[in-house]
Amino acid sequence: MPDSRGRRVARYDLITPMIPCKNEILAGVEKLLDTGGYILGENVTALEQELAAALDCADGIGVASGSAALYLALQLAGVGPGIEVITTPYTFVATIEAIIRLGGTPVFIDLDPVDLNMDPALLEAAVTERTKVILAVHIFGMPCRMDEIQAVADKHGLDVIEDMCQAFGSLYQGKPCGSFGRMSCISFYPTKNLPGIGDGGMVLCNGADDAALIRKLRGHEAVRINGRLHAGWNSRIDEIQAMAIRVRLARFTDEQSDRDRAAAIYNGLIPAAHRLPTPRPGTGLRVTHHQYWIRVPERGRLEEKLTAEGIDYGIYYDPPLHRDELVELCRVSGEMTEAERAGREVLALPIHQALPDEDALRIGNIVREHLGA
Ligand SMILES: Cc1ncc(COP(=O)(O)O)c(C=O)c1O
Repeated sequence: MPDSRGRRVARYDLITPMIPCKNEILAGVEKLLDTGGYILGENVTALEQELAAALDCADGIGVASGSAALYLALQLAGVGPGIEVITTPYTFVATIEAIIRLGGTPVFIDLDPVDLNMDPALLEAAVTERTKVILAVHIFGMPCRMDEIQAVADKHGLDVIEDMCQAFGSLYQGKPCGSFGRMSCISFYPTKNLPGIGDGGMVLCNGADDAALIRKLRGHEAVRINGRLHAGWNSRIDEIQAMAIRVRLARFTDEQSDRDRAAAIYNGLIPAAHRLPTPRPGTGLRVTHHQYWIRVPERGRLEEKLTAEGIDYGIYYDPPLHRDELVELCRVSGEMTEAERAGREVLALPIHQALPDEDALRIGNIVREHLGA
């Protein structure tokens, strides 16, 4: 095995996975220039159909970004002034920006410490007469407990919307993340597991009526929601992005197995108490490891060690959103003990489609040694 000591290891590799795609993407650009089909062309339609089929949804509507997808889905679900949306404080700020920009109020509940997703047992205490939506975020690619979330939603007549920006390819009880809620939202930001070569996103809908209305809203058509007229807007995905994403989609299974291999190397070295437990066979759980995170009580010392070894790492989400200045526009339901602890302890190791096995082994061993295992 080659000696990888001293080699710098980046957290993401946005270039190597594109090498085998380059000719196809360049040919796609050339075709676009020859035909002029720049807006809502054949690639947007094809990508919408391919992702809806892959995610077991009625339809998909390509939009400008994951943030735009969240905004449109929440708008259609009736979020606006005086409306509360229950979600997690342990997510990227875009999740709550969409709620706030619509005039609604994000309501935070604490996490399950094992999977770092919202703890469904805490949902009920957060529901008020103003609650309309539960916004479930599958953080780092780990599915939320959708059956428990849906049970609370059904009991109180709420909509479930999935923020699956980090979870393309993940399965819960054998079903794709993105197929559970009334709508779900994906991002094709270049660091995501299914990336574009710029910004892009999609709303996946389980109902044909929802799909028709989102399609209108993204393309300057006004629609009536709960009796009130809403203006449309330009929120289209670009044809060039749709074309590039389709090229990556065709390679997704191979790319995911490269990520899975890196995760398996880490799993073999890092003690279970410090990472996401390996899914038990037969449960239908599949995690795509958008991030491979570990929990380290004395994180600072490990950060120093990784930096000295030239290994890039990520810190998420420290502080969590209930400590962000936007909390002024949110409501916090109960103690955020686990969100605080995750913010203090979680560290994301490099994981991507082109991570050499010897780098994963070296990093896993550094972590193992740090943990005294
Ligand atoms: C959980 C989550 N929600 C929303 C977004 C927003 O997506 P975008 O950057 O495409 O707007 C992201 C990613 O950036 C994300 O990770």
